[in-house]
Amino acid sequence: MSLFSEFRLKDVTLRNRIAVPPMCQYSAEQGLVNDWHHVHYAALARGGASLVIVEATAVSPEGRITPGCLGLWNDAQAEGLAQVAQAIKAAGAVPGIQIGHAGRKASANKPWEGDDHIAADDGRGWETLSPSAVAFGNNLPQVPRAMTLDDIARVRNDFVQAAIRARDAGYEWLELHFAHGYLAQSFFSVHANQRTDQYGGDAAGRSRFLRETFDAVREVWPENLPLTARFGVLEYDGRDEETLSEAIDLTRYWRTNGLDLLSVSIGFSTPDANIPWGTPAFLAPIAERVRREADIAVASAWGIDSPAIANATVEKGQLDLVMVGRAHLKNPHWPYQAALALDKPQPSWVLPAPYAHWLERYRVSE
Ligand SMILES: Cc1cc2nc3c(=O)[nH]c(=O)nc-3n(C[C@H](O)[C@H](O)[C@H](O)COP(=O)(O)O)c2cc1C
Repeated sequence: MSLFSEFRLKDVTLRNRIAVPPMCQYSAEQGLVNDWHHVHYAALARGGASLVIVEATAVSPEGRITPGCLGLWNDAQAEGLAQVAQAIKAAGAVPGIQIGHAGRKASANKPWEGDDHIAADDGRGWETLSPSAVAFGNNLPQVPRAMTLDDIARVRNDFVQAAIRARDAGYEWLELHFAHGYLAQSFFSVHANQRTDQYGGDAAGRSRFLRETFDAVREVWPENLPLTARFGVLEYDGRDEETLSEAIDLTRYWRTNGLDLLSVSIGFSTPDANIPWGTPAFLAPIAERVRREADIAVASAWGIDSPAIANATVEKGQLDLVMVGRAHLKNPHWPYQAALALDKPQPSWVLPAPYAHWLERYRVSE
């Protein structure tokens, strides 16, 4: 098994083990795709990745991280996203999409415009929702409104409606955004969830929203297509063994009820985390543990931008699928570069003919 082995999941066959993880472009208005998204996603798919997952796409207006985030709560948004799916597919990659709700991290400025909450008197912001009225802190100080049971039922249904639209728009891989300190992760996290009802308290209570939302989406997402989730299985906050063990239990539940792959990530529920940035592929051993203990296919990201390291995570059986994020922004043809680095110089199966024809004969220097 190597980075360039095929990977079959349900009725979908990926041409290699390199995927583009969801990466917000913060470039939409009213949640609609525009020329930027069309060009961006087509370029990534042309570059040779087997799976291109469209950025965090909000299930409701208040679920956007910023006013520039994509949405999937109406038909016009679904129409634009259907064209993106088509373009990804035409370039030989599988079109995936991540749907989510930003919870207490919503109503923020774009990263390059401050990355903080939109000021209350600005006029562009909105009320944020979370399991409890507890702010994230630091750059995101806005105190969210604690969700009522009606809010919870409504957001669960928003996930279902977005999943239906994603399905009908031609996406073949769905990723539920249950990670990164956004709404679902906040239900799971002791840093954000102080509820005393059935949606809080012990691990079973804090997992309830994530189980129910998963189960509701399972009912509408086709059985023959991969249903996946991205989930922060630890926080690097000093209580990781406990969090990880709860996360693995929840993953087992999802697995039993139809989850096909877990994208193993970080909780990002507290600004006081001690994350080992700089260590290449630092999450791969954690992902491997989840893979083994929950008996599920796994993907992961974070600092896997060297072809040799990416290949090693697959060869060692740590990851089934490698998510290469920022390196794809630097070079959308990263898979081609990786093929050369790993001595697989056959660009015709990595690049489309109008590029491959020339590059098979001419090796561009770095
Ligand atoms: C510009 C940008 C936008 C991102 N947006 C998302 C997102 O929409 N959803 C998500 O789950 N992760 C998001 N992430 C995290 C990436 O998916 C990925 O996990 C991260 O970049 C680490 O992988 P890398 O080291 O290969 O870049 C984003 C990262 C970047 C750099």
